[in-house]
Amino acid sequence: MAQKIIFTDTPARALTEQLDELGCKGALTIITDSNTRRDCLPLISGDSRIDGAGVIELEPGDDNKSLTSLSEIWNYLCCHGATRHSVIVNLGGGMITDIGGFAAATFKRGVRFINVPTSLLAAIDAAVGGKTGINFNGLKNEIGSFAPACSVIVSSAFYGTLPRTELLSGYGEVLKHALLDSPEALGQALEFDLSEADPALLSGILENSVGVKRRIVAEDPFEHGLRRSLNLGHTAAHAFESLAMEAGRTEPHGIAVAHGIVVDLVLSHLNLGFPSDTLQAVASFVRENYPAPAFDCKDYPRLIEFMQHDKKNTSPDAINFTLLRKPGDVQTDCIVSPEQIKVAFDIARDLLGV
Ligand SMILES: NC(=O)c1ccc[n+]([C@@H]2O[C@H](COP(=O)([O-])OP(=O)(O)OC[C@H]3O[C@@H](n4cnc5c(N)ncnc54)[C@H](O)[C@@H]3O)[C@@H](O)[C@H]2O)c1
Ligand SMILES: [Zn+2]
Repeated sequence: MAQKIIFTDTPARALTEQLDELGCKGALTIITDSNTRRDCLPLISGDSRIDGAGVIELEPGDDNKSLTSLSEIWNYLCCHGATRHSVIVNLGGGMITDIGGFAAATFKRGVRFINVPTSLLAAIDAAVGGKTGINFNGLKNEIGSFAPACSVIVSSAFYGTLPRTELLSGYGEVLKHALLDSPEALGQALEFDLSEADPALLSGILENSVGVKRRIVAEDPFEHGLRRSLNLGHTAAHAFESLAMEAGRTEPHGIAVAHGIVVDLVLSHLNLGFPSDTLQAVASFVRENYPAPAFDCKDYPRLIEFMQHDKKNTSPDAINFTLLRKPGDVQTDCIVSPEQIKVAFDIARDLLGV
Protein backbone atom coordinates (compact mmCIF):
# COMPACT_ATOMS: atom_id res chain seq x y z
CA MET A 1 0.00 0.00 0.00
CA ALA A 2 2.54 2.60 -1.16
CA GLN A 3 1.18 6.04 -0.47
CA LYS A 4 2.55 9.20 -1.96
CA ILE A 5 3.45 11.73 0.74
CA ILE A 6 4.58 15.19 -0.30
CA PHE A 7 6.35 17.50 2.16
CA THR A 8 6.14 21.11 1.10
CA ASP A 9 6.23 24.76 2.20
CA THR A 10 3.82 25.62 -0.62
CA PRO A 11 0.77 23.40 -0.23
CA ALA A 12 -1.23 25.27 -2.91
CA ARG A 13 1.36 24.44 -5.57
CA ALA A 14 1.68 20.84 -4.39
CA LEU A 15 -2.08 20.38 -4.58
CA THR A 16 -2.22 21.81 -8.12
CA GLU A 17 0.46 19.32 -9.18
CA GLN A 18 -1.41 16.41 -7.59
CA LEU A 19 -4.67 17.41 -9.30
CA ASP A 20 -2.79 17.56 -12.63
CA GLU A 21 -1.36 14.09 -12.00
CA LEU A 22 -4.82 12.73 -11.34
CA GLY A 23 -6.08 14.37 -14.55
CA CYS A 24 -8.65 16.27 -12.49
CA LYS A 25 -10.34 18.88 -14.69
CA GLY A 26 -12.95 20.14 -12.21
CA ALA A 27 -15.58 18.09 -10.35
CA LEU A 28 -13.72 18.72 -7.13
CA THR A 29 -15.17 18.73 -3.63
CA ILE A 30 -13.25 20.00 -0.60
CA ILE A 31 -14.29 18.73 2.84
CA THR A 32 -13.46 21.07 5.73
CA ASP A 33 -14.65 21.98 9.20
CA SER A 34 -15.45 25.61 9.99
CA ASN A 35 -11.96 26.25 11.44
CA THR A 36 -10.03 24.76 8.55
CA ARG A 37 -12.31 26.44 6.02
CA ARG A 38 -11.55 29.80 7.61
CA ASP A 39 -7.83 29.31 8.38
CA CYS A 40 -6.54 26.75 5.89
CA LEU A 41 -8.61 27.03 2.70
CA PRO A 42 -6.97 30.40 1.83
CA LEU A 43 -3.58 28.66 1.97
CA ILE A 44 -4.47 26.31 -0.90
CA SER A 45 -6.26 28.84 -3.13
CA GLY A 46 -5.03 30.11 -6.49
CA ASP A 47 -5.94 27.22 -8.80
CA SER A 48 -9.27 27.60 -10.63
CA ARG A 49 -10.21 24.00 -9.72
CA ILE A 50 -9.73 24.79 -6.02
CA ASP A 51 -11.33 28.22 -6.13
CA GLY A 52 -14.32 26.83 -8.06
CA ALA A 53 -14.68 23.66 -5.96
CA GLY A 54 -17.72 22.79 -3.91
CA VAL A 55 -16.90 23.13 -0.21
CA ILE A 56 -18.53 20.99 2.48
CA GLU A 57 -18.16 22.53 5.94
CA LEU A 58 -18.74 20.33 8.97
CA GLU A 59 -18.88 21.50 12.56
CA PRO A 60 -15.50 20.94 14.25
CA GLY A 61 -15.03 18.32 16.96
CA ASP A 62 -14.90 14.55 17.11
CA ASP A 63 -18.64 14.31 17.92
CA ASN A 64 -19.17 15.25 14.30
CA LYS A 65 -17.19 12.29 12.98
CA SER A 66 -20.64 10.75 12.84
CA LEU A 67 -23.13 8.97 10.65
CA THR A 68 -25.09 12.23 10.41
CA SER A 69 -22.10 14.10 8.97
CA LEU A 70 -21.26 11.16 6.72
CA SER A 71 -24.75 11.20 5.29
CA GLU A 72 -24.47 14.98 4.84
CA ILE A 73 -21.33 14.41 2.72
CA TRP A 74 -22.91 11.60 0.66
CA ASN A 75 -25.97 13.80 0.12
CA TYR A 76 -23.90 16.72 -1.04
CA LEU A 77 -21.97 14.52 -3.49
CA CYS A 78 -25.24 13.07 -4.88
CA CYS A 79 -26.90 16.49 -5.22
CA HIS A 80 -23.86 18.03 -6.91
CA GLY A 81 -23.48 15.31 -9.51
CA ALA A 82 -20.27 13.75 -8.22
CA THR A 83 -19.20 10.71 -10.23
CA ARG A 84 -16.62 7.95 -9.81
CA HIS A 85 -14.19 10.30 -11.61
CA SER A 86 -14.62 13.11 -9.11
CA VAL A 87 -11.83 13.96 -6.69
CA ILE A 88 -12.27 14.81 -3.01
CA VAL A 89 -9.79 16.91 -1.03
CA ASN A 90 -9.90 16.44 2.74
CA LEU A 91 -8.62 19.65 4.31
CA GLY A 92 -8.48 19.40 8.07
CA GLY A 93 -7.37 17.52 11.14
CA GLY A 94 -7.86 13.81 11.72
CA MET A 95 -11.60 14.24 12.16
CA ILE A 96 -11.88 15.45 8.55
CA THR A 97 -9.33 13.06 7.01
CA ASP A 98 -11.04 10.10 8.76
CA ILE A 99 -14.62 10.91 7.76
CA GLY A 100 -13.69 12.41 4.39
CA GLY A 101 -11.61 9.35 3.53
CA PHE A 102 -14.45 7.02 4.53
CA ALA A 103 -17.01 9.05 2.55
CA ALA A 104 -14.73 8.89 -0.50
CA ALA A 105 -14.05 5.17 -0.04
CA THR A 106 -17.76 4.34 0.07
CA PHE A 107 -19.35 6.81 -2.40
CA LYS A 108 -20.06 4.94 -5.64
CA ARG A 109 -17.75 2.18 -4.31
CA GLY A 110 -14.84 4.57 -4.07
CA VAL A 111 -13.71 7.90 -5.50
CA ARG A 112 -10.17 9.20 -5.40
CA PHE A 113 -9.14 11.52 -2.61
CA ILE A 114 -6.21 13.64 -1.51
CA ASN A 115 -5.53 14.31 2.18
CA VAL A 116 -4.28 17.73 3.19
CA PRO A 117 -3.78 17.35 6.96
CA THR A 118 -3.82 20.69 8.75
CA SER A 119 -3.09 19.51 12.30
CA LEU A 120 0.19 17.98 13.43
CA LEU A 121 -1.64 14.87 14.63
CA ALA A 122 -3.32 14.35 11.27
CA ALA A 123 -0.06 14.88 9.38
CA ILE A 124 1.93 12.28 11.25
CA ASP A 125 -0.84 9.85 12.08
CA ALA A 126 -4.45 10.11 10.92
CA ALA A 127 -3.93 11.15 7.29
CA VAL A 128 -1.26 8.57 6.51
CA GLY A 129 -1.68 4.82 6.65
CA GLY A 130 -5.08 4.32 5.08
CA LYS A 131 -7.37 3.91 8.10
CA THR A 132 -10.64 5.82 7.66
CA GLY A 133 -13.90 5.81 9.56
CA ILE A 134 -16.47 7.32 11.86
CA ASN A 135 -17.54 6.99 15.48
CA PHE A 136 -20.75 4.99 15.97
CA ASN A 137 -22.98 3.99 18.90
CA GLY A 138 -20.73 5.89 21.31
CA LEU A 139 -17.68 3.93 20.16
CA LYS A 140 -14.64 5.53 18.54
CA ASN A 141 -13.83 4.49 14.98
CA GLU A 142 -16.42 1.68 15.14
CA ILE A 143 -17.25 1.80 11.43
CA GLY A 144 -14.53 2.24 8.84
CA SER A 145 -12.33 0.83 6.13
CA PHE A 146 -8.75 0.70 4.97
CA ALA A 147 -8.61 3.19 2.09
CA PRO A 148 -5.39 5.06 1.33
CA ALA A 149 -5.48 8.58 -0.10
CA CYS A 150 -3.93 8.95 -3.59
CA SER A 151 -1.55 11.39 -1.98
CA VAL A 152 -1.02 13.23 1.28
CA ILE A 153 0.27 16.80 1.26
CA VAL A 154 2.08 17.58 4.50
CA SER A 155 2.99 21.17 5.30
CA SER A 156 3.82 23.02 8.51
CA ALA A 157 2.48 26.13 6.72
CA PHE A 158 -0.88 25.30 8.31
CA TYR A 159 0.28 25.28 11.93
CA GLY A 160 0.34 29.06 12.44
CA THR A 161 -3.35 28.94 13.40
CA LEU A 162 -3.30 25.57 15.15
CA PRO A 163 -4.31 25.92 18.82
CA ARG A 164 -1.44 25.13 21.24
CA THR A 165 -3.30 22.19 22.78
CA GLU A 166 -3.54 20.64 19.32
CA LEU A 167 0.19 21.20 18.73
CA LEU A 168 0.96 19.43 22.02
CA SER A 169 -1.44 16.66 21.11
CA GLY A 170 0.28 16.02 17.76
CA TYR A 171 3.66 16.10 19.46
CA GLY A 172 2.62 13.19 21.70
CA GLU A 173 2.60 11.03 18.55
CA VAL A 174 5.94 12.54 17.46
CA LEU A 175 7.43 11.27 20.74
CA LYS A 176 5.94 7.84 20.11
CA HIS A 177 7.39 7.60 16.60
CA ALA A 178 10.79 8.80 17.83
CA LEU A 179 10.80 6.13 20.57
CA LEU A 180 9.89 3.45 18.02
CA ASP A 181 12.63 4.68 15.69
CA SER A 182 16.00 5.17 17.41
CA PRO A 183 17.92 6.87 20.24
CA GLU A 184 18.95 9.59 17.72
CA ALA A 185 15.35 10.35 16.70
CA LEU A 186 14.35 10.47 20.36
CA GLY A 187 17.22 12.87 21.11
CA GLN A 188 16.08 15.17 18.29
CA ALA A 189 12.44 15.08 19.48
CA LEU A 190 13.40 15.88 23.09
CA GLU A 191 15.62 18.81 22.04
CA PHE A 192 12.80 20.56 20.20
CA ASP A 193 11.57 23.69 21.95
CA LEU A 194 7.80 23.26 22.01
CA SER A 195 7.27 26.73 23.46
CA GLU A 196 8.79 28.32 20.33
CA ALA A 197 7.83 25.60 17.82
CA ASP A 198 10.12 26.85 15.03
CA PRO A 199 8.32 25.79 11.79
CA ALA A 200 11.57 25.02 9.91
CA LEU A 201 12.81 22.67 12.66
CA LEU A 202 9.36 21.18 13.00
CA SER A 203 9.30 20.38 9.27
CA GLY A 204 12.40 18.19 9.66
CA ILE A 205 10.99 16.37 12.70
CA LEU A 206 7.68 15.95 10.88
CA GLU A 207 9.31 14.33 7.88
CA ASN A 208 11.21 11.82 10.05
CA SER A 209 8.12 11.11 12.11
CA VAL A 210 5.90 10.46 9.09
CA GLY A 211 8.69 8.25 7.72
CA VAL A 212 8.49 6.02 10.82
CA LYS A 213 4.76 5.46 10.48
CA ARG A 214 5.06 4.99 6.74
CA ARG A 215 7.75 2.29 7.08
CA ILE A 216 5.74 0.39 9.69
CA VAL A 217 2.50 0.59 7.70
CA ALA A 218 4.25 -0.46 4.48
CA GLU A 219 5.50 -3.63 6.21
CA ASP A 220 2.19 -4.47 7.87
CA PRO A 221 -0.71 -2.56 6.25
CA PHE A 222 -3.51 -4.59 7.90
CA GLU A 223 -2.11 -4.73 11.45
CA HIS A 224 -1.21 -8.41 11.61
CA GLY A 225 1.99 -7.81 13.59
CA LEU A 226 4.49 -4.95 13.36
CA ARG A 227 1.81 -2.25 13.02
CA ARG A 228 0.78 -3.05 16.58
CA SER A 229 4.01 -1.35 17.69
CA LEU A 230 2.18 1.92 16.92
CA ASN A 231 0.12 1.16 20.04
CA LEU A 232 3.01 2.31 22.23
CA GLY A 233 1.51 4.56 24.91
CA HIS A 234 -2.01 3.83 23.70
CA THR A 235 -3.28 1.18 26.14
CA ALA A 236 -3.00 3.69 29.00
CA ALA A 237 -3.93 6.63 26.74
CA HIS A 238 -7.26 5.10 25.73
CA ALA A 239 -8.06 4.46 29.41
CA PHE A 240 -7.22 8.12 30.26
CA GLU A 241 -9.44 9.30 27.40
CA SER A 242 -12.31 7.08 28.54
CA LEU A 243 -11.94 8.29 32.15
CA ALA A 244 -12.03 11.90 30.94
CA MET A 245 -15.08 11.23 28.77
CA GLU A 246 -16.90 9.65 31.71
CA ALA A 247 -16.17 12.76 33.79
CA GLY A 248 -17.47 15.02 31.00
CA ARG A 249 -13.99 16.34 30.12
CA THR A 250 -12.32 16.10 26.74
CA GLU A 251 -8.76 14.89 26.72
CA PRO A 252 -6.97 15.58 23.41
CA HIS A 253 -5.76 12.21 22.15
CA GLY A 254 -2.05 13.03 21.84
CA ILE A 255 -1.91 14.53 25.33
CA ALA A 256 -3.27 11.26 26.72
CA VAL A 257 -0.65 9.50 24.56
CA ALA A 258 2.17 11.59 26.08
CA HIS A 259 1.02 10.51 29.57
CA GLY A 260 0.48 6.92 28.35
CA ILE A 261 4.02 6.81 26.99
CA VAL A 262 5.42 7.57 30.44
CA VAL A 263 3.36 4.70 31.92
CA ASP A 264 4.53 2.35 29.14
CA LEU A 265 8.16 3.32 29.60
CA VAL A 266 7.89 2.60 33.33
CA LEU A 267 6.48 -0.84 32.42
CA SER A 268 9.24 -1.22 29.82
CA HIS A 269 11.82 -0.46 32.50
CA LEU A 270 10.28 -2.92 34.97
CA ASN A 271 9.84 -5.76 32.45
CA LEU A 272 12.42 -5.28 29.71
CA GLY A 273 15.13 -3.18 31.33
CA PHE A 274 14.40 0.02 29.38
CA PRO A 275 17.19 2.46 30.48
CA SER A 276 16.14 4.57 33.46
CA ASP A 277 17.98 7.72 32.26
CA THR A 278 15.99 7.67 28.99
CA LEU A 279 12.78 7.12 30.95
CA GLN A 280 13.64 10.13 33.15
CA ALA A 281 14.45 12.30 30.09
CA VAL A 282 11.12 11.52 28.40
CA ALA A 283 9.18 12.03 31.64
CA SER A 284 10.89 15.41 32.25
CA PHE A 285 10.00 16.54 28.72
CA VAL A 286 6.35 15.58 29.27
CA ARG A 287 6.28 17.16 32.75
CA GLU A 288 7.72 20.45 31.45
CA ASN A 289 5.58 20.79 28.33
CA TYR A 290 2.27 19.07 29.03
CA PRO A 291 -0.56 19.62 31.50
CA ALA A 292 -0.39 17.21 34.44
CA PRO A 293 -2.47 14.03 34.05
CA ALA A 294 -5.83 14.26 35.82
CA PHE A 295 -6.00 10.94 37.68
CA ASP A 296 -5.13 9.72 41.14
CA CYS A 297 -5.06 6.40 42.97
CA LYS A 298 -8.87 6.38 43.44
CA ASP A 299 -9.13 6.13 39.63
CA TYR A 300 -6.84 3.10 39.26
CA PRO A 301 -9.59 0.42 39.40
CA ARG A 302 -11.67 2.22 36.77
CA LEU A 303 -8.63 2.79 34.53
CA ILE A 304 -7.81 -0.93 34.76
CA GLU A 305 -11.41 -1.80 33.85
CA PHE A 306 -11.14 0.36 30.74
CA MET A 307 -7.89 -1.37 29.83
CA GLN A 308 -9.50 -4.79 30.30
CA HIS A 309 -12.04 -3.86 27.62
CA ASP A 310 -9.42 -2.70 25.12
CA LYS A 311 -9.91 -4.13 21.59
CA LYS A 312 -6.31 -5.42 21.54
CA ASN A 313 -6.73 -7.89 24.42
CA THR A 314 -7.35 -11.57 23.81
CA SER A 315 -9.02 -11.95 27.23
CA PRO A 316 -9.98 -9.50 30.03
CA ASP A 317 -7.28 -10.97 32.30
CA ALA A 318 -4.54 -10.30 29.78
CA ILE A 319 -3.96 -6.57 29.33
CA ASN A 320 -1.87 -6.05 26.24
CA PHE A 321 0.92 -3.45 25.95
CA THR A 322 3.53 -2.49 23.40
CA LEU A 323 6.81 -2.02 25.29
CA LEU A 324 10.43 -1.20 24.47
CA ARG A 325 13.79 -2.65 25.46
CA LYS A 326 15.35 0.62 24.34
CA PRO A 327 14.41 3.30 21.78
CA GLY A 328 13.99 1.49 18.44
CA ASP A 329 13.75 -1.99 20.02
CA VAL A 330 10.08 -2.82 20.38
CA GLN A 331 8.20 -5.78 21.87
CA THR A 332 4.50 -6.03 20.97
CA ASP A 333 1.87 -8.11 22.80
CA CYS A 334 3.35 -7.85 26.32
CA ILE A 335 0.86 -9.01 28.94
CA VAL A 336 0.99 -7.01 32.18
CA SER A 337 -0.89 -7.73 35.43
CA PRO A 338 -3.27 -5.17 36.99
CA GLU A 339 -1.02 -5.08 40.10
CA GLN A 340 2.00 -4.07 38.08
CA ILE A 341 -0.02 -1.47 36.15
CA LYS A 342 -0.93 0.15 39.50
CA VAL A 343 2.76 0.26 40.45
CA ALA A 344 3.53 1.85 37.06
CA PHE A 345 0.79 4.47 37.61
CA ASP A 346 2.36 5.38 40.98
CA ILE A 347 5.84 5.74 39.47
CA ALA A 348 4.55 7.64 36.41
CA ARG A 349 2.63 10.11 38.60
CA ASP A 350 5.73 10.64 40.66
CA LEU A 351 7.85 11.25 37.53
CA LEU A 352 5.21 13.65 36.18
CA GLY A 353 5.19 15.58 39.45
CA VAL A 354 1.56 14.78 40.31
N1 LIG B 1 -6.98 7.10 10.83
C1 LIG B 1 -6.01 6.98 11.71
O1 LIG B 1 -5.07 6.18 11.58
C2 LIG B 1 -6.03 7.90 12.90
C3 LIG B 1 -4.91 7.98 13.72
C4 LIG B 1 -4.93 8.89 14.79
C5 LIG B 1 -6.06 9.66 15.02
N2 LIG B 1 -7.14 9.54 14.20
C6 LIG B 1 -8.34 10.37 14.39
O2 LIG B 1 -7.96 11.74 14.23
C7 LIG B 1 -8.85 12.55 14.99
C8 LIG B 1 -8.04 13.53 15.80
O3 LIG B 1 -7.34 14.34 14.90
P1 LIG B 1 -7.00 15.86 15.27
O4 LIG B 1 -6.31 15.90 16.57
O5 LIG B 1 -6.36 16.46 14.10
O6 LIG B 1 -8.46 16.45 15.57
P2 LIG B 1 -9.45 17.43 14.79
O7 LIG B 1 -9.52 17.11 13.34
O8 LIG B 1 -10.71 17.40 15.56
O9 LIG B 1 -8.72 18.84 14.93
C9 LIG B 1 -8.56 19.43 16.21
C10 LIG B 1 -9.06 20.88 16.20
O10 LIG B 1 -8.10 21.67 15.51
C11 LIG B 1 -8.75 22.43 14.48
N3 LIG B 1 -7.76 22.61 13.43
C12 LIG B 1 -7.15 21.66 12.68
N4 LIG B 1 -6.20 22.22 11.92
C13 LIG B 1 -6.22 23.55 12.17
C14 LIG B 1 -5.44 24.64 11.73
N5 LIG B 1 -4.42 24.47 10.88
N6 LIG B 1 -5.74 25.87 12.19
C15 LIG B 1 -6.75 26.04 13.10
N7 LIG B 1 -7.48 25.04 13.60
C16 LIG B 1 -7.21 23.81 13.14
C17 LIG B 1 -9.97 21.62 14.11
O11 LIG B 1 -10.95 22.44 13.53
C18 LIG B 1 -10.38 21.08 15.48
O12 LIG B 1 -11.12 22.05 16.16
C19 LIG B 1 -9.69 11.61 15.83
O13 LIG B 1 -10.94 11.44 15.22
C20 LIG B 1 -8.91 10.30 15.77
O14 LIG B 1 -9.74 9.17 15.92
C21 LIG B 1 -7.14 8.68 13.15
ZN1 LIG C 1 -2.69 7.78 18.58
